[in-house]
Amino acid sequence: NPALTEPAQKYGKTPAQVTLRWHVQQGIAAAPKSAHPQRQQQNLDIFDFELTDAEIERINSLDTGKHARQDSESFGH
Ligand SMILES: NC(=O)c1ccc[n+]([C@@H]2O[C@H](COP(=O)([O-])OP(=O)(O)OC[C@H]3O[C@@H](n4cnc5c(N)ncnc54)[C@H](OP(=O)(O)O)[C@@H]3O)[C@@H](O)[C@H]2O)c1
Repeated sequence: NPALTEPAQKYGKTPAQVTLRWHVQQGIAAAPKSAHPQRQQQNLDIFDFELTDAEIERINSLDTGKHARQDSESFGH
């Protein structure tokens, strides 16, 4: 999605790193898991750039309110 790929290109990061940065900047705990060392390193390398408020809002706007899986907020934790 351009909301992720455009900031990724701008900051020289991957869309996955933009997604993790979106979490961190809002104080949301993320638990990334990867079987690949290169991706594990990428998932830690998210503290040298900062998304703008507009970029955060653009990613927030991707929320359609529809859940692809069960929503733990209503189904239970
Ligand atoms: N899901 C749950 O309900 C749940 C509950 C409690 C605890 N946890 C824990 O939370 C952690 C994550 O769980 P999960 O269910 O989210 O894991 P998952 O869906 O099994 O794995 C995460 C996926 O993201 C991919 N990925 C990770 N880093 C990436 C990157 N930088 N670029 C592209 N793809 C990337 C991984 O691919 P590759 O491995 O091929 O890189 C993998 O396919 C685990 O330690 C799990 O034990 C999960």
